[in-house]
Amino acid sequence: MNLPKYDFSQRSAFVTGAGGGMGEEITLSLLRAGAYVTAVDLKPCPEAIAKFKDRIHFAQGDIRNRAFVEKTFGYHQEHSGGLDFLANVAGVLWFDRDKSLLEIDLDVWDEVFDINLKSMVLIARAAVPLMRKRGSGSMVHFSTIQWMRGDPVPQDAYQASKAAVSAMSRSLASQLAAEKIRSNTVLPGPVFTPMQERWNTEKIRGQVARHIPLQRIGNPVDLSQAAMFLFSDAGSFITGIDLPVDGGMLLRG
Ligand SMILES: NC(=O)c1ccc[n+]([C@@H]2O[C@H](COP(=O)([O-])OP(=O)(O)OC[C@H]3O[C@@H](n4cnc5c(N)ncnc54)[C@H](O)[C@@H]3O)[C@@H](O)[C@H]2O)c1
Repeated sequence: MNLPKYDFSQRSAFVTGAGGGMGEEITLSLLRAGAYVTAVDLKPCPEAIAKFKDRIHFAQGDIRNRAFVEKTFGYHQEHSGGLDFLANVAGVLWFDRDKSLLEIDLDVWDEVFDINLKSMVLIARAAVPLMRKRGSGSMVHFSTIQWMRGDPVPQDAYQASKAAVSAMSRSLASQLAAEKIRSNTVLPGPVFTPMQERWNTEKIRGQVARHIPLQRIGNPVDLSQAAMFLFSDAGSFITGIDLPVDGGMLLRG
């Protein structure tokens, strides 16, 4: 693959969901581009990330926990003085428990909203003051194409919480544009990561791929490249958008 090269050597970034498929790849892309990165996840630090010893701070914890979020951003500020990029990647889709709004257990509903949406509030409140110190910034929040096209098997807590991620991203974009702080969402289509471990055979992955106009399942690099572009100066006139990275799935309505 012939991918663009970025130089983020004087920049710093905060990544949530860095123990998962896309979050790990985004963290690696930022580290390879020279950035200092603070990364968080419920899971332990992936080996590939840990290798960048002096430029990575990995904090294992729950982004619903306000004290954890504030402490981790505090550490980031001490080491970096401000923040250039935020990748808000952590999220959950509970195939077994997320259902139609007509029948979903409301405790599950609340939990999904706490993880997918309320954590975005905590993270944005901590990130924006550090971007203001820099005088600019770029946030990329991970939503999904699913809220635009619906799903024959409803997963309404996921879908509604991710629609709200896009709504809040636009709100942040309009509130912060005059301060040169940009906010955009990426809307992934089907991407093979631990979240989609149900696609655990070549046969299943082949069947999924045949439904996608570009005839392949997405991989974490497809998504990290979209995020890197939106972080970079190449994306400096872009704010308040939803960028589908979906192999053409939205063409199918
Ligand atoms: N994989 C897909 O097909 C797909 C499609 C559309 C959208 N997305 C979205 O893209 C983003 C990344 O997905 P992925 O496929 O890499 O998933 P993933 O499951 O591999 O990674 C998500 C990570 O978020 C972490 N996480 C969940 N809850 C957390 C919490 N409370 N605190 C800290 N960390 C927490 C998990 O531990 C996990 O490592 C998600 O927001 C997801 O909803 C994925």
